Amino acid sequence: MIIQPRTRGFICITTHPEGTAKNVHNQIEYIKSKNISTEGPKKVLIIGASTGFGLSSRITAAFGYNAATIGVFFEKPAAQKKPGTAGWYNTAAFEKEAHAAGLYAKSINGDAFSDEIKQQTIDLIKKDLGQVDLVVYSLASPRRTHPKTGVVHSSVLKPIGEPFTNKTVDFHTANVTDITINPIDSQEDIDNTIAVMGGEDWKFWMEDLKAAGVLAEGVKTVAYSYIGPELTHRIYKDGTIGMAKNDLEKTVPVLNELLADLNGVSYVSVNKALVTQSSSAIPVVPLYVSLLYKVMKDKGIHEGTIEQMQRLFEERLYTTNGQIPLDENGRIRIDDLEMREDVQKEVDDLWKIVTSENINEISDIKGYRDEFFQLFGFNYDEIDYDVETDELVTVPSIS
Ligand code: NAI
Ligand code: NA
Repeated sequence: MIIQPRTRGFICITTHPEGTAKNVHNQIEYIKSKNISTEGPKKVLIIGASTGFGLSSRITAAFGYNAATIGVFFEKPAAQKKPGTAGWYNTAAFEKEAHAAGLYAKSINGDAFSDEIKQQTIDLIKKDLGQVDLVVYSLASPRRTHPKTGVVHSSVLKPIGEPFTNKTVDFHTANVTDITINPIDSQEDIDNTIAVMGGEDWKFWMEDLKAAGVLAEGVKTVAYSYIGPELTHRIYKDGTIGMAKNDLEKTVPVLNELLADLNGVSYVSVNKALVTQSSSAIPVVPLYVSLLYKVMKDKGIHEGTIEQMQRLFEERLYTTNGQIPLDENGRIRIDDLEMREDVQKEVDDLWKIVTSENINEISDIKGYRDEFFQLFGFNYDEIDYDVETDELVTVPSIS
């Protein structure tokens, strides 16, 4: 079978197994090259471990700290003549390299929002690891079936209040247009988005893990958030997704109380805007990211998910002196370079003048597109995409 990229709307519906393995391999090599020397996690559960920040968290824990990892995610394996999802191949590639390095790595593929998957995870921890000392919560999902009520909640990406008009780009065509996004219809839109992307499921996980006795003394847990600049606030920070992130932050003190007798602690880490499957679906954001990438690359401070996670672990969660730098609201900030004044000033200036005519010169739209397709294993110079990959489609498996 010859696998080429095919897109439907924003998403890429094909995946190249060799290319996704390359993506994973590059991240592993990056982490190994950092020669991390601080004391870090030993047994780690990553919820949302197959792509984006979760995958990079897993790679950092495993190849930066020799940690045993259990990854939970929702992906599709390859079927006859049909490639699996990127997260499936990422995990197959990760496990192969982890096992070759003598590292424990097992995965659970299923709905992390469900009680069943939580129980399966607990059983696996009990059987193989006893306890975990770090829980990374990195889910991004458009919907959640609530485990107690059975109600299916769908999140929406909408502003609150007035309609929001700003520039946006179709990153496939580099066409810049104005977009008007209508606001929420009712409070229900906010409530549903909070139900999917807020803190309740994180809390359910930690409650169940604690009740089962599988959290180690001094356990840490971290979930990811985003703030971003003024120009995206209406659609992100002050929109429905931002309300869900506020809810996630409000979960931190609740979890700290839950974990107090274990001397455990929970954090929200505010991360940088990056190209992932989830963020490419948000209007306005891809244009902002294209300009941000250009500015940050020119300044030599560009980061992808793996660079971000390396800094999160080595310079925040596991520092030499044990101190975790936090902002005035108690959050970890690894969006510090993105939010630097000089960076934001330059992005702002470019934002005002960007059009379809100049986008290729003044933004890194090409870098955005390349990275987007690399998430699916495409656009790697080293790979010949005209060659049959039959074996690779069916062979990769996870344990
Ligand atoms: P992603 O789409 O790359 O990863 C999502 C992960 O969740 C995948 O492993 C997927 O399999 C898993 N997942 C989704 N639904 C699931 C379900 N029902 N059961 C089990 N697993 C499921 O997303 P990304 O971008 O890495 O996002 C992770 C977190 O980081 C999110 O909270 C997001 O808001 C946050 N974040 C993202 C930023 C960005 O620019 N991409 C910036 C800052 C924070
Ligand atoms: Na993730």
